[in-house]
Amino acid sequence: MDIDDVRDDITEVLLTEEQIAGKIAELARRIEADYTDDDDVLLVGVLRGAVMVMADLARELRLQLNMDWMAVSSYGSGTQSSGVVRILKDLDTDITGRKVLIVEDIIDSGLTLSWLLANLRSRGAASVEICALLRKPEAVKVEIDVRYVGYDIPNAFVVGYGLDYAERYRNLKSIGVLAPHVYS
Ligand code: XMP
Ligand code: MG
Repeated sequence: MDIDDVRDDITEVLLTEEQIAGKIAELARRIEADYTDDDDVLLVGVLRGAVMVMADLARELRLQLNMDWMAVSSYGSGTQSSGVVRILKDLDTDITGRKVLIVEDIIDSGLTLSWLLANLRSRGAASVEICALLRKPEAVKVEIDVRYVGYDIPNAFVVGYGLDYAERYRNLKSIGVLAPHVYS
């Protein structure tokens, strides 16, 4: 779906399909420089927002890798992080000794990722790094060391390319700012 299909719900196109694709390629080149095929990298996608990033990044990477998924909840259906994280779906993979790269759509308060980072590290992974397409620097509540960040964006609620509001707009090809009338 294109922004034009939901034009009234979006106040501004933040990132076009082309910009996203360019950034994913850039991130992939940086990741390739840091790992080899022998590292047996495990990409861990965070459901459901990271589905598009994961699909595009994994295919862009010229690297032997595995993929697994986790689902955590910190948000409910609103637009504010609660800080309370619950595992809804755990990994199917034993990550002991593995080089893990968490793939995320967006870092907002950072609460979800800091919890996830601690959780995965406690399982004895050889390394745990983070790749996030978007980050909202103004919203950060906990500092986390994120190795790969695509774009720093303004503190607005954004949708598209996997990002939803109440499960809608995930299938937008680009990323836009959600109009306040949709959630107020
Ligand atoms: P925290 O605050 O813990 O939140 O870093 C991370 C998760 O919250 C969701 N999130 C958003 N989803 N538009 C969305 O569609 C946004 O602007 C937004 N900000 C945060 C997202 O699922 C992310 O993984
Ligand atoms: Mg998410």
